[in-house]
Amino acid sequence: MKNNPKWYYEEKAPGVDYLNPEIAQKYDDAHQKFRNFREESEHIVQVMGITPDDTVMDFGCGTGNVALNLAKYCDKVICIDISREMLDILENKAKKGNINNIETYSAGFLTYDHNGKDKVDKIVSMVALHHLPDFWKSVALSKMAEILKPGGKLYLFDVIFTFNIQDHQKALEGMIKTMRFAAGDSMADETEMHIRDEFSTYDWIMEGLLEKTGFLVNFKEIKANNFVEYICSKL
Ligand SMILES: C[S@@+](CC[C@H](N)C(=O)[O-])C[C@H]1O[C@@H](n2cnc3c(N)ncnc32)[C@H](O)[C@@H]1O
Repeated sequence: MKNNPKWYYEEKAPGVDYLNPEIAQKYDDAHQKFRNFREESEHIVQVMGITPDDTVMDFGCGTGNVALNLAKYCDKVICIDISREMLDILENKAKKGNINNIETYSAGFLTYDHNGKDKVDKIVSMVALHHLPDFWKSVALSKMAEILKPGGKLYLFDVIFTFNIQDHQKALEGMIKTMRFAAGDSMADETEMHIRDEFSTYDWIMEGLLEKTGFLVNFKEIKANNFVEYICSKL
């Protein structure tokens, strides 16, 4: 926002440079290869109880592989990403696929301004919140709670650590190895960068942040490779 104090966090997406159009396209190509976006989206529709009347927001939507699939199941998807380059790819796909029930905003978790707009039914955020340091995650989560209607739901899926602190080296080396096996050397390099430069945190920290910002965790699943899924409702 324009009038933020000097101490306010400057969102700039550390780690992978999603503001570079080539890297944005590479991200899209690579993730299409090792993720099944149709399945991911159908799962979200089911576990979040998304209905045709719902407005869904995808925070950190990237190139829109989930957002555009979700658009088939709801009234509207509000797609927000700090990278204009990632959104350009999303918008091209929407145009090609004749998907018109989306709105896009090039903004960050913290800079996005929802003032004056209707509250939304569901918020989805996949593999994106780890770009903020923990304190700023709490500011972003409070904002999401504000944006949601009473009883609204949050689907959070991210790289979140669940290993014992003493075992971190073995766990992180294992994660890099698995990513190399699943998606090649560049994904392994990206995983190293993720661990070093981005802000993935422990599950017990994330759960504290969710609780303190007005969410009840209804369901948690620890998936392979340090991915954790949370389904939360706004209290
Ligand atoms: C790993 S990608 C995930 C994209 C998509 N959600 C998916 O599941 O494929 C992370 C995305 O978060 C975006 N991002 C990074 N920092 C952000 C911030 N502070 N606010 C909003 N989006 C951010 C990046 O531009 C990128 O598109």
